Amino acid sequence: MVSERVVSEGYVQIAPSVLSADFAKLGEQVREATEAGADLIHVDVMDGQFVPNISFGEVLVDAIRRSTHLPLNIHLMIKEPDNLLHTFIKAPTDQIIVHAEACTHLHRTITRIKEGGNEVGVAINPATPVSAIEDLLPLLDIALVMSVNPGFSGQSFIPLAVEKVKRLRQEIKRGGYGTRIMVDGGIKADWTAQDSVKAGASMLVSGSGIFNETEAVDQAMGRMRSCLAGLVPG
Ligand code: DX5
Ligand code: ZN
Repeated sequence: MVSERVVSEGYVQIAPSVLSADFAKLGEQVREATEAGADLIHVDVMDGQFVPNISFGEVLVDAIRRSTHLPLNIHLMIKEPDNLLHTFIKAPTDQIIVHAEACTHLHRTITRIKEGGNEVGVAINPATPVSAIEDLLPLLDIALVMSVNPGFSGQSFIPLAVEKVKRLRQEIKRGGYGTRIMVDGGIKADWTAQDSVKAGASMLVSGSGIFNETEAVDQAMGRMRSCLAGLVPG
């Protein structure tokens, strides 16, 4: 699992978020993103409790998985996700991300996910300090810094996320951990992507930046790659 996916140093992974896709042709949109060079497909599962919105659940995640060979980056915005984990952990290459704010026993939740062999990540909301996950960094494959308050696509990037990425990166370097930093929310092919990478992020989620009405998915992916050209995660 982890060993099957060696990500080269300095490369920035792009994970289109299907929350912004046209659900009437979801399979097609996922295939377009795959063919356009996406590294992961970001899947936002929302429960209407932890976040003020309901997106989709197991059935749709299964359908997305059937539409791509890429690993799914499953972002669980679910209160106390433990009892539902088995409905999303189905492919060993998928990455499972839970929220620090949504898990009473976060260490236990992480351990359960790791026991299944999947890569695990923890997300922190804009108001949650980096210190909330510092002690867990040795266990984490991914630290996800939310750059919007979760619940919706199409919101504006909250700049304080960049400072949090920097602080996390310092902590990861200091400890010599293998944790990668991901940023999610309001990322477009502009300074939001560039500053996140310069601060230390090597994984970027983009929803409305990739799936929108003004350009095709491959054009949007192309613009995102071009804006990152020559940048190496700080
Ligand atoms: C927000 C979700 C994000 C969202 C990103 O709660 O976690 O993944 O889909 O969409 P954009 O890039 O449009 O902010
Ligand atoms: Zn997300």
